[in-house]
Amino acid sequence: MSTFPQPRTEPVAGHLGRWGTDPLALMQEGAALGPVFRLRLWRTAYVGFSPAWNRLVLGDLDTFRSRGGMSRLSPYLSDGIVQTDFPEHADRRAALNPGFSRTAVASLSEQMEQVVRTLLPAGRFDAVAWSSRLVRAVLSRTFLGTGGTHPVLDDFLDPMSRPLPQPFLPRPLRFRRMNAVLAERLRDPRSGSLAEVFAAHGGVPEMRVALGAGYDTTAHTLAWLLRHVALDPTHLAPERHGHVVREVLRLYPAGWLGSRVTRRPAEFEGRTIPARSLVMYSPFLTHRDPSLWERPQEFDPDRFADKVPAWGYLPFAAGPRTCLGRHYATLLLHVVLRVLADRRLLFHDGDGAMRAGVTLSPAGPQQLELVAA
Ligand code: HEM
Repeated sequence: MSTFPQPRTEPVAGHLGRWGTDPLALMQEGAALGPVFRLRLWRTAYVGFSPAWNRLVLGDLDTFRSRGGMSRLSPYLSDGIVQTDFPEHADRRAALNPGFSRTAVASLSEQMEQVVRTLLPAGRFDAVAWSSRLVRAVLSRTFLGTGGTHPVLDDFLDPMSRPLPQPFLPRPLRFRRMNAVLAERLRDPRSGSLAEVFAAHGGVPEMRVALGAGYDTTAHTLAWLLRHVALDPTHLAPERHGHVVREVLRLYPAGWLGSRVTRRPAEFEGRTIPARSLVMYSPFLTHRDPSLWERPQEFDPDRFADKVPAWGYLPFAAGPRTCLGRHYATLLLHVVLRVLADRRLLFHDGDGAMRAGVTLSPAGPQQLELVAA
């Protein structure tokens, strides 16, 4: 039986060493070998990125299970909907989806804008640090109904912004304090806040998981967005916002890699993936595949004037497990662009190097400056 190719290995460690130092280079080397390749990590992983692979892995929730995948390594994601599988997953999503629909989150736009205006930087600032601060404050406002930041939420989310392995370490005290604050909010949810959604469905664990899933993903996407808007001010023209946001999500999908575990053997293009295998899909590889995208490494929002390839654009994954917060995150990115549209954002310093940790972030600070137009 033919098997899947694999990138160059190191003795004993297999791919683990390279995974720890430069996972993107390892993935790109694998992608050059074929549409599915194997990695020898702590266990064998099957990684694919073609539209057919994405459809298989993200479409068949009964075979490809979320529980047992890599999300369980993060205390922030090892609970709630992320660890819920078919068939319970469908009911849980059906309950939560209405509160996160495009129409429902649109009502949060004003709250978001108030926070953005309050925190607008004066003069020079690092877009990476500012984006994290802003997203924490926006989450606090829209989930908890506070005026802005909340010290317990800040403290809870803080390890996620630190280098690996910090985001993976258990934080029992921070989690207990966060749970207590959420429980209190859920007893008496502020009107117009997302606590109302979680008071009706899911309670503390679901609300805590959403905060964890929504924080560094959105913050890092925003940091990339600000970098590109500063590099080319024409992106701030209101009619361009939609394409600019989509292009940032294509080139830098914060969820650059997702995983599942097979419950039974699965067939892909004539080859078999055994039961209980770790399986990965990668929006990063899909979005940079030259057979799907012209000049894939280039930042070019105008490419979205054309149709995107089916199962070839998945910054928020796809299928029944597609990101619960996609409309929320997109709305916030648009709100920030709207507020900036009548100002000028100048670029000072910072390269485009990427760091692939839990999410895909700029490797270093991005020094920008906000001035009146
Ligand atoms: C730009 C920002 C964001 C990106 C790029 C992003 C990306 C993703 C991706 C790729 C997944 C699928 C993971 C998988 O199953 O393999 C996902 C799931 C999820 N996201 Fe997001 N996300 C973002 C923002 C948010 C926000 C703001 C929230 C909360 C309000 C959120 C909540 C969730 C939840 C709860 C799931 C699990 C859904 C399920 O398993 O059914 N995300 N996200």
